[in-house]
Amino acid sequence: MIEPIQIAIDGPAGAGKSTVAKEVARRLGYLYIDTGAMYRALTCLALEKNVSLFDEQALTNLAHNSTINLVQKEERLHVFVENIEVTEAIRSPLVSSHVSQVAAVAGVRMIMVEQQRAMARSQSVVMDGRDIGSHVLPFAQIKIFLTASIEERARRRYLEMTAKGIPVNEEVLKEEIQRRDEQDASREVSPLVRAEDASILDTTGLEIEAVIQIILDLTARRGR
Ligand code: DC
Repeated sequence: MIEPIQIAIDGPAGAGKSTVAKEVARRLGYLYIDTGAMYRALTCLALEKNVSLFDEQALTNLAHNSTINLVQKEERLHVFVENIEVTEAIRSPLVSSHVSQVAAVAGVRMIMVEQQRAMARSQSVVMDGRDIGSHVLPFAQIKIFLTASIEERARRRYLEMTAKGIPVNEEVLKEEIQRRDEQDASREVSPLVRAEDASILDTTGLEIEAVIQIILDLTARRGR
């Protein structure tokens, strides 16, 4: 059997990870795994079931007993929890503002990481998140740490949300992104860090296509 290729893409919120990772996966014919969507789906379920976000054991049990599925259909990644589609719901401001709290729970992370590793065992993947290169897939052939200035990240989120008709304030978005970065980077378990062997890719001022090409070139040189 040919050894599966693993491409790990980490970085702060709004750096463009999912857009880039999805497209790289599509062009290479690899599976795209959005690990943030998994933490978001669990947060969505916890809010729905009125599970206290301060109760670490209850959140861990919930992660243990629920099934989260990521299904690629045509251009889109659909997210299901307990067979209910939550693709849109996981992007709501309510989920966005609580997900860091859920993602900081050690028991939750253990379960998610196990599932993520299992998905990458038998097929080539592009996986994006915060701890992929440093913890989930430490032997990934390609590791990218994608970043961009806070202003650019807020600007991109603003354009993305307004294009969907969701009214937002750019300054507020910037503060939210900053707060989320701080929470994700300062938590005790698997914080957002750059893996020592990851290539840093600052996407400020770069077109998406240029970023995709850089990653495809790196893959062609190192992995295939
Ligand atoms: O990438 P995103 O914004 O959808 O991620 C949602 C949250 O989940 C964010 O607060 C960081 C957290 N996360 C994480 O802790 N580890 C991952 N591998 C992916 C996301």
